[in-house]
Amino acid sequence: MSDAVVPAPASSEADILSALGSRSIVLVGMMGVGKSTIGRRMAARLRLPFVDADSEIEAAAGMTIPEIFERHGEPYFRDGEARVIARLLDGGPGVLATGGGAFMREETRRRIAAKAVSIWLKADPDVIMRRVRRRADRPLLQTADPEATVTRLLGEREPVYRNADLTIASRDVPHDRIVDECIEMLRAHLCGAAVSEQPSDVASAAR
Ligand code: S3P
Repeated sequence: MSDAVVPAPASSEADILSALGSRSIVLVGMMGVGKSTIGRRMAARLRLPFVDADSEIEAAAGMTIPEIFERHGEPYFRDGEARVIARLLDGGPGVLATGGGAFMREETRRRIAAKAVSIWLKADPDVIMRRVRRRADRPLLQTADPEATVTRLLGEREPVYRNADLTIASRDVPHDRIVDECIEMLRAHLCGAAVSEQPSDVASAAR
């Protein structure tokens, strides 16, 4: 038997980290799809820092998001959001969860494409509604008919979210399963590894 040292196969996580370099992983998608929850867990798996763009905007403004909308309006919020995301992308690598409207700005999409790999967490409208109903901290949903607002926003946004590098179906399964799928897709995207066949519920939800 040869005593040559055979290197242990690198883990998916190590492969992803070396392929990423200074780029970040950016999660995009509608409110309530789980960008922060999944992002935090993915960052822990990859041993990368996790940053939530909404929290950074609140820290930079010294106000909550509802306060920013109320005192200054949405355009002011969007400008701050674009600036904060640009700064965070310069500090990669990391995992960055963005607010649901951030990817709608072309300049932000361009920056993300240049400095990150983007993942669209895609969820069905009923899953989104069930999740956003629990909280009242989303100014865009303080309308007479939040369900209609979600439907309208999804109609406007899904064609744009589709431009993300990768799409993962966010659904009611354990978070770690979604994280596993993200890791596997990232490895395939960045390192050319084959993705094992997705379970049929994933494939249909991602269509
Ligand atoms: C928004 C989503 C929110 C927050 C703001 C606007 C949007 O973030 O940025 O309320 O336009 O969809 P989450 O997607 O994290 O809820």
